[in-house]
Amino acid sequence: MRSYRGNVVDLTGKSAIITGGTRGIGRGIAKALVSVGANVAITGRIESDVENATAELGTIGPGTISGYVCDVRHYDQVKSLFAAFGMVDILINNAGVGIFAPVESMSPEDFRAVLETNVCGVFYCCHEAIPLMKRRGGGYIINISSLAGANPHPQMAAYNASKFGLNGFSEALMQEVRQDGIKVSYIMPGSVNTEFGGDEPSDQKSWQLQPDDIARVVIDLLEYPGRALPSRIEIRPSQPPKKQ
Ligand SMILES: NC(=O)c1ccc[n+]([C@@H]2O[C@H](COP(=O)([O-])OP(=O)(O)OC[C@H]3O[C@@H](n4cnc5c(N)ncnc54)[C@H](OP(=O)(O)O)[C@@H]3O)[C@@H](O)[C@H]2O)c1
Repeated sequence: MRSYRGNVVDLTGKSAIITGGTRGIGRGIAKALVSVGANVAITGRIESDVENATAELGTIGPGTISGYVCDVRHYDQVKSLFAAFGMVDILINNAGVGIFAPVESMSPEDFRAVLETNVCGVFYCCHEAIPLMKRRGGGYIINISSLAGANPHPQMAAYNASKFGLNGFSEALMQEVRQDGIKVSYIMPGSVNTEFGGDEPSDQKSWQLQPDDIARVVIDLLEYPGRALPSRIEIRPSQPPKKQ
């Protein structure tokens, strides 16, 4: 059969950092990247989760996996992470939190946690990654945003603010670094079957996207020929339950 994929970028041996790779979407992306031969570092805040995920992903190959405890809200920790890793071809800014409440009852601490993780954390990682990518002649940054980055909802003001902000950040950065050979894309998924925002993944939610669906988009983006840059991708469940 004739293939229409044309030339794809070979990801074998590429070094990738995925923030928040211990579960959910980040873990799905880590699995996919290791499967295509990349050397992947995952991060998370909880040491035991990082160790367990690293041990499990370590059995996949042919790429390698390493794990780092790093809270992306803290610049000093992000700085140490990138210093320890030393080089990076691919950065997946995936770590994110959702805390949903009316503005009048949301605590300032919760509001800050959402913005500091979903926006400041991405800035810290990009700030450290870009000089390393420039040194290697290029790279790829993929930010995991959300359809909530374009669609406001009641009780989601903090999350909306963070993902609207992340989209603007991503577009500005894309224009800033593309002449340096660094691509920037952002993916806006709808509902994904994960533990996000305290959810429980379940079979009842099999209509939702799965982490593997987002991982597939990531691999497709990374494999695109150098000249092409799909910079903003929306992906949603094809058959959500009908609204009554
Ligand atoms: N699930 C959805 O429906 C959905 C839809 C659209 C977009 N998204 C976005 O997709 C991304 C991943 O979400 P998910 O569904 O996979 O959620 P998840 O299952 O809750 O996983 C989140 C990951 O991020 C890590 N994390 C959270 N805060 C962190 C911090 N401060 N520093 C480092 N790591 C941190 C978590 O590990 P620790 O808690 O151990 O640190 C975990 O590994 C988020 O950016 C989210 O906004 C999700």
